[in-house]
Amino acid sequence: MSKSFPVLVTGGAGYIGSHAVLALLDAGWDVVVLDNLVTGFAWAVDERATFVQGSVEDMELTERLIADHGIGAILHFAGSVVVPESVSDPLKYYRNNTAASRALVERAVQSGVRHFIFSSTAATYGEPESIPVREDAPKQPINPYGRSKLMTEEMLKDVSAAHPMNHAALRYFNVAGADPDGRSGQSTAGATHLIKVAVEAATGKRDHVAIFGSDFDTADGTGVRDYIHVTDLAAAHVAALEALIARPEDSYTLNCGYGHGYSVIEVLDAVDRVTNRQIKRKFEARRAGDPAALVCDNSAIRSALDWTPKLDDLDSIIGHALAWERTLQDREV
Ligand code: UD1
Repeated sequence: MSKSFPVLVTGGAGYIGSHAVLALLDAGWDVVVLDNLVTGFAWAVDERATFVQGSVEDMELTERLIADHGIGAILHFAGSVVVPESVSDPLKYYRNNTAASRALVERAVQSGVRHFIFSSTAATYGEPESIPVREDAPKQPINPYGRSKLMTEEMLKDVSAAHPMNHAALRYFNVAGADPDGRSGQSTAGATHLIKVAVEAATGKRDHVAIFGSDFDTADGTGVRDYIHVTDLAAAHVAALEALIARPEDSYTLNCGYGHGYSVIEVLDAVDRVTNRQIKRKFEARRAGDPAALVCDNSAIRSALDWTPKLDDLDSIIGHALAWERTLQDREV
C-alpha cells in the first residue's frame, strides 16, 4: 500500500487519538495532529508527527493545514466523551461532536479530502433490545452524547452520497488499556471509566471502586461490557483507512469490540489477579442510563477490514493500563 499523502488526525493528543497516531506512524503514514489540548497533552503526540494546537472549528486553520500538507484523509477523534456531562450540558456535546464535525467535514469536502474516519460510539444504540448488537440494530441513544455522535454519522452518510468522499464511522465499545510499549495511555484526569478507575484504586490514587448496581439482569447482577484494547482499536483505524483508499465507492459503519463481555465484578477480579492485591469495592445504586449489557457483534468489521484482534485478553488490557498509571504517577500528571 503506497502512503501517497499525509493524514490529519484531530484529537491526536487524546487517549484514543494518540494511540491511532502511533499505529499510523508505525505503519509508515505521515501524520499531522490537530488538537486544542483541552483534554489532550502535547507530550502524548509522538515526535514523528507534526503537531498543531488549534480547533477543528477553525475553518481557516483546517483549510490551511489541508492545503499546506496535502492532506488526503482525516481521522476525526476530537470531541467530548463524558456521558453524564452530556446530560447536564447538551449544547457542549452538540457543539463539539456535531457542529464542529460539520465544520470539519465541510472543509474536507471543499478541500478535496477523499477519506474521512469518524469516532462513533456504542452509545448510538442506547439500550439494545438484544445482544450481541449488530450495526443494523435500532439506534435509540439515551443521552445527548450518543445523539450528538449519531447525528454526525447521519451527516457523513449524506455527504458521502453527494460528494467524492467516502467514510468509516467506527462505533467503539468500551475502550481500555494502553500502548503495550508504554508510549501512551489514558491520561485525562477525572476519568469515570471502570478500568481506569480500578487501576487508579490499585495504585492508591483512589480509596475504592464503586460498583454501580448489582441487580442487573446479568449472570452476577453487575453491568457487562465489551472491553477492547486501545491498540487493537487503533489498528482498526489503520485498516479502515486502507479499505477506504482501496475501495473509494464504499463507506463503512462498523462496531469495534471483541464480541464478548465482562461484568464489573469480573473486571475487578482481574485487577486483583493482575496486582495480586485486593482493591476495596463498594456496592452503590445503579448509575442513571447504564444498560445491563452491551456487547457487539463484530462480524462486520472482521469481514470488511483487514483486522483481527491481537490483544483480546482482559488481564493484558488491565496490565497495560496499570503500567501506564504507574508512568503517570512518575510524571505527576
Ligand atoms: C459509556 C458510553 C460509551 C462511552 C464511554 C465514555 C454508553 C452506553 N456507553 O460507557 O459509549 O465511550 O461511556 O465515557 O453510554 N462502573 C462501575 N463503577 C465505576 C465505573 C463504571 O461499576 O466506577 C460500571 C458501569 O456501571 C458499567 C461499566 O462499569 O456497567 C462500564 O462503565 P464505563 O467504563 O463508565 O463505560 P460505559 O458507561 O459502559
